[in-house]
Amino acid sequence: MYIVLEGIDGAGKSTQTQLLKEWLTTKNYETKIIVEPTNSEIGQLIRKQLLKEESTNDINQQMLALLFAADRLTLKQEILDAKNSDKIILSDRSFYSSICYQNNESIDISWVANINIHTPQPDLTIILDLNEQDAIKRCDKEEVFETITFLEKTRKNYLKLLKTEKNIIKIDATPSTEEVQEEIREKIATILKI
Ligand code: TYD
Repeated sequence: MYIVLEGIDGAGKSTQTQLLKEWLTTKNYETKIIVEPTNSEIGQLIRKQLLKEESTNDINQQMLALLFAADRLTLKQEILDAKNSDKIILSDRSFYSSICYQNNESIDISWVANINIHTPQPDLTIILDLNEQDAIKRCDKEEVFETITFLEKTRKNYLKLLKTEKNIIKIDATPSTEEVQEEIREKIATILKI
């Protein structure tokens, strides 16, 4: 299975992914965490770009969409292998991040979807939903998308996905780490019938 945690910067994806892995391991599942942007050369290039103010301009957002799609493909074989086995891939972000972040008037969103067409489809996507005021407090604000205006717009884009996408759910990320984890576990337990 390929399970994805999504949400704006500061929503708690990496902490929750780690706790989820620990729990699934106690249930005897073989798991692997993957993170986007990856550690590939493309991922490293992306991380450098994310520190530059000009990365939010229209042309650079178009370029970033292409880089994120290419970076994602470096994970493809591993995800496909997991989908054909009992292994569970837990992913911190997916192509849904591109749909929600590389999303402005300069970009045709169906183009973003198209350049991601060869990346694997998640079996389940969990959106950790947190308001932008709380989220920004948890950001180090080093990267260009970590501004309140950008997070507010991106959060709206995530919430829109709930209306159009399959196998996608929202969990309120406002409560404590433990409570949010409990809710994630409940949802996954139902799906895995454990
Ligand atoms: P993030 O998960 O915040 O990494 P870290 O916590 O290590 O900084 O991802 C980095 C940024 O990249 C984040 O602001 C979201 C952005 N991003 C996109 O804009 N598009 C994408 O397709 C992906 C995967 C991430």
